[in-house]
Amino acid sequence: MPRPMPKPMPSRPVVAVAGATGAVGREMLFTLEQRAFPAAQVKALASARSVGSRLPFAGGELTVAELTEASFEGVDIALFSAGGSISERFREAVVGAGAVMIDNSSAFRMESDVPLVVPEVNPETAATHIGVIANPNCSTIQMVLALAPLHALAPIKRVVVSTYQAASGAGAAAMEELYTQTRQFLDGEELTVERFAHQLAFNCIPHIDIFLDDGSTKEEWKMVVETKKILDAPEIEICANCVRVPVLRCHAEMVNVEFAAPITVEQARAAFGSAPGIVLADDPATQTYPMPGLLAGTDDTYIGRLRRDPSVEYGLNFWCVADQLRKGAALNAVQIAELLLPQRSN
Ligand SMILES: NC(=O)c1ccc[n+]([C@@H]2O[C@H](COP(=O)([O-])OP(=O)(O)OC[C@H]3O[C@@H](n4cnc5c(N)ncnc54)[C@H](OP(=O)(O)O)[C@@H]3O)[C@@H](O)[C@H]2O)c1
Repeated sequence: MPRPMPKPMPSRPVVAVAGATGAVGREMLFTLEQRAFPAAQVKALASARSVGSRLPFAGGELTVAELTEASFEGVDIALFSAGGSISERFREAVVGAGAVMIDNSSAFRMESDVPLVVPEVNPETAATHIGVIANPNCSTIQMVLALAPLHALAPIKRVVVSTYQAASGAGAAAMEELYTQTRQFLDGEELTVERFAHQLAFNCIPHIDIFLDDGSTKEEWKMVVETKKILDAPEIEICANCVRVPVLRCHAEMVNVEFAAPITVEQARAAFGSAPGIVLADDPATQTYPMPGLLAGTDDTYIGRLRRDPSVEYGLNFWCVADQLRKGAALNAVQIAELLLPQRSN
């Protein structure tokens, strides 16, 4: 069956935020407001549980409505962050209404006709959409932002990444659980463990998303396949290790990169210095390096601990930190929406 094509994007689109009450959804509303996105109207949608609740927006409040198939009449852009099954359930309703879905879940990311977009890296792919654009995995976005300027200098052969991922990556209730467990731990009480497989307070959990047959996790798999797709570089070998740590917001990653050609630390430093969305915070002499506990609410991806890896011929190591609720989710999605505005696509 031929798919209905999205209608022309007006200069002042109607925007729906599905999952508006969640950790990402609230940041989406904040980001739309902060970046003065030229929306004619913003609709806040969530489950029946949240109907009638109010969310702050642009000096006023939005009243949350229930997400239903009828929610998309008159909508131009639908920002989705309500989980993969919800995105799957409402895809046809969004596309059928002629709107563009920008989806934060992993439901469609690897479909060949769904662009997977990091606006600083592959903005041109957004225009190829046929109704759905996927926002990459949060850990992938910050790593790809850092890898892209290096890959332009010298082809990347192999990446080994170890992540230190914040509780908020699992949503608003997971952040609350970390607060609760921390209080319970300090009070000597039994810990409430619901959102993660084990206690997160005063612990690290080497397990994010489900286990796959090869012993890796789906989060690790996402970092591998999504990085190759965004960089359009299937030849890069990637080994990802994903760990949940008791941090509220901001994912950190230690990234080891092996190149096929020479690249110096100075060249990498210069490339990071001029790359959009990247801030170098790297000065061992003053103990300067980015740290997740201090970067909540920021938009950039911060790089530090940049140094040569002497164990291979052409290798670099660096540490990178970004607020995954912002650049890893809400900000990246709103930047994609900005790419769709008529003045941007002309
Ligand atoms: N957290 C991150 O760092 C991050 C980063 C990138 C991508 N994502 C993705 O973004 C999505 C949301 O994540 P989150 O962290 O914001 O989760 P969250 O805090 O748990 O929020 C979930 C949102 O989905 C809504 N929802 C749940 N079931 C629904 C239903 N049946 N119908 C309509 N709305 C429903 C919730 O509404 P109610 O309040 O009414 O229940 C809430 O607004 C997930 O797909 C996640 O993988 C998250």
